[in-house]
Amino acid sequence: MSHNSFGHLFRFTTWGESHGIALGCVVDGCPPNLSISEAEVQEFLDKRKPGQSKYTTQRREADEVKILSGVMPQEDGTWLTTGTPISMMIENTDQRSKDYSDIAKRYRPGHADFAYDAKYGIRDYRGGGRSSARETAARVAAGAIARKVISGVAVRAALVQMGPHKVDRSRWDWDEVNNNPFFCPDPVAAKEWATELDRIRKAGSSIGAVIEVVAEGVSAGWGAPVYAKLDQDIASAFMSINAVKGVEIGNGFEAAEITGEENADEIRMGADGNPEFLSNKSGGVLGGISSGQPVVARFAVKPTSSILTPRQSITSDGEEVDVMTKGRHDPCVGIRAVPIGEAMMACVLADHYLRHRGQVG
Ligand SMILES: Cc1cc2nc3c(=O)[nH]c(=O)nc-3n(C[C@H](O)[C@H](O)[C@H](O)COP(=O)(O)O)c2cc1C
Repeated sequence: MSHNSFGHLFRFTTWGESHGIALGCVVDGCPPNLSISEAEVQEFLDKRKPGQSKYTTQRREADEVKILSGVMPQEDGTWLTTGTPISMMIENTDQRSKDYSDIAKRYRPGHADFAYDAKYGIRDYRGGGRSSARETAARVAAGAIARKVISGVAVRAALVQMGPHKVDRSRWDWDEVNNNPFFCPDPVAAKEWATELDRIRKAGSSIGAVIEVVAEGVSAGWGAPVYAKLDQDIASAFMSINAVKGVEIGNGFEAAEITGEENADEIRMGADGNPEFLSNKSGGVLGGISSGQPVVARFAVKPTSSILTPRQSITSDGEEVDVMTKGRHDPCVGIRAVPIGEAMMACVLADHYLRHRGQVG
């Protein structure tokens, strides 16, 4: 299985499966002399880890990260990156392979089972193996390192839609995001979602969601005009996250519905002598290059395919069966996708920052 690496100058490779001994990543290209600690990486992993509330999978994983290489302890007890590969490992501690034995041969509709068998002829069915979103823990760890590379950039994300229910943007409050189990910026919507998701969870069903990721402090000039557009790489990074079926940059699909006049991000000279954009429909990217405005992108995740209602499928032997998934699952994978989206945005920006510096100094 190849293609397990991301990025050019800030590059990471992830390894591991859902029910293996451990999973992790190797981050290569991180500049030296950046201060880093396991606790700082852990903070982001804790946001993603399962079992945080009744609204996420009840798999219990501590998701404790160990940094194995690429750092040097200092006299004051802190660690500095050395410029060598940073290897990080997270042990899998709550694997229950027996939960999955009855789907060893059955293809879960909407999951990767059929496609993996068609491609490789062998599949680790325990928890979905490599197709499990356990892999995203490694990306979140890499994202924590990426944030160090672009320390002047603040990357934040929020759940802005659960099923058909959208947040009211007039109530958007970033401080609310960590106050509810959904990373929702609208306290009223968060309450409504709680009732809705309880109903869905109890019915053994699932629901999709939309996540918005915002990066502030990105200087103008990151990205490249043709095959390494910043928005192109963000879209690719988001699409690489499990269950993602759509990506928007800036106003995204809304741009197709409005006129050129409405879509223009007009420019004036600001009081500080710098250009000032009067709107940000472009999502902070023009011609594949950052404009200096906040970089704004969204991604849509589908409803979890593991559901209790039987769905028609086949086995690897060609027998027609009904499949129902009894293992633990997230009723709305969008919740835990919030820190994953932040991590991927941070990795894309760190990579582009280093590439920009490499070309233009
Ligand atoms: C945070 C997160 C948790 C997930 N948990 C589950 C899960 O419990 N059950 C499930 O069927 N799919 C889950 N998924 C989605 C599957 O990993 C994904 O649908 C599957 O790998 C097939 O890939 P695709 O949906 O991108 O085509 C999760 C996705 C994310 C982002």
